[in-house]
Amino acid sequence: MPTPSRRPFFFRHAEQLLTLAGAPVPRRGADLGELGIIPDGAVLTGNGVILRVGPTTHLEAEARRLRARIVDCRGQVVMPGFVDSHTHLVFAGSRVEDYERRLRGMTYEEIAKAGGGIRYSAQLLGKASKQQLAAQAAAFLREFAAHGTTTLEVKSGYGLDPVNEIKTLEVVRLLRRRSPLELVPTLLAAHALPPAYEGRAPAYVDLVIRRLIPRVARKRLAEFIDCFCDRGAFSPADCRTVLEAGRRNGLIPRVHAEQLVRTGASRLAIELGAASADHLDQLTGADIRALAASPVVATLLPGSNFHLGFRKYPPARRLIEAGAAVALATDFNPGTSPTLNMQFILSISCSAMRMTPAEVISAATINAAYALRRAGRLGSLEPGKQADLIVMDVDDYRKIPYYCGWNHCVMTVKRGRIIYSRKG
Ligand code: NIG
Ligand code: FE
Repeated sequence: MPTPSRRPFFFRHAEQLLTLAGAPVPRRGADLGELGIIPDGAVLTGNGVILRVGPTTHLEAEARRLRARIVDCRGQVVMPGFVDSHTHLVFAGSRVEDYERRLRGMTYEEIAKAGGGIRYSAQLLGKASKQQLAAQAAAFLREFAAHGTTTLEVKSGYGLDPVNEIKTLEVVRLLRRRSPLELVPTLLAAHALPPAYEGRAPAYVDLVIRRLIPRVARKRLAEFIDCFCDRGAFSPADCRTVLEAGRRNGLIPRVHAEQLVRTGASRLAIELGAASADHLDQLTGADIRALAASPVVATLLPGSNFHLGFRKYPPARRLIEAGAAVALATDFNPGTSPTLNMQFILSISCSAMRMTPAEVISAATINAAYALRRAGRLGSLEPGKQADLIVMDVDDYRKIPYYCGWNHCVMTVKRGRIIYSRKG
């Protein structure tokens, strides 16, 4: 991450300033709908952090004293930058052929068996150089910034062998130096079984544990460890082995859980103290209660349901009503969710999962920051927090999901520095 901007900025006269102020814990139940709105609000930043937040008139004298650069936000909403807590940013090429096959009637799992799917992405990634992978990902990162995302988690997972998994995480390290965005690396070694290990999942798990996890930990290439626990992917027993090995090496677990079938992976996430359980389409009522009673963030990824053309979506309302800490993310990946636009995810979450506009904003900021163990620094606009904010060209935050499929973001600020401005 480049250095923060020392220069003070004064973002003033926001029609609505969404502070999301509160303790650095995830919002649950009715609190998810509390955005801490200040009308005619302002934010004063300096040295990359937020100095003050309040009504514009209360901050004007100090802004003058600091000779802060003024950004007028009349008629606009100012809010925390989006935290996208689940992406598969680094891949080669696309899976547009899979997309068309699916539109003609094949399922995600049938396509994977027929030579498409994650294994196809792994073939492409194996042939790509680090420079090629970084160039494609860097272009995506510019789009993330232009759509209001200031922090994103990035998983490996298209390597399917130690060399290519490490290569992927080294690309993430390169991007962390070059991009103004904050990238949080996750080792997703158990994503799909490499063809050479067909029928021998435990042998592949053994390879991951002996040859990959210790090296990733030693080189500090990841913070988290993930696995795809599902039919056609890895069993709960294999995932437990991988996640426990990760934990012994200082990596924090998170889990792709209950997406295509219920495997019990959400219970495993709770038991292992995972930061999040993601997808959760097939939860039972008892699973919902167990998640709600736990600190594990329930991260919903409805972009994948949309792109796969599923009618069924994760049970967002039941999770919220039970008191679970719900977050939203794009799941940006070539196979099931090729969108990097968090605003689009908010629209789908409202229309298809009946979340309210206020709930989706909390889920995409403070709760997502908590899912990445960064709620003390990110996810809300409060003095002392990092100056990560976005200016949206709407006069009412509810219009962000309502005017769906647009990009409302006109300015993105990361660590007090303007990294994207629509006016140039
Ligand atoms: O989150 N579910 C597993 N991983 C991705 C899909 C990856 C792919 O198909 O390339 C997901 O949906
Ligand atoms: Fe995913």
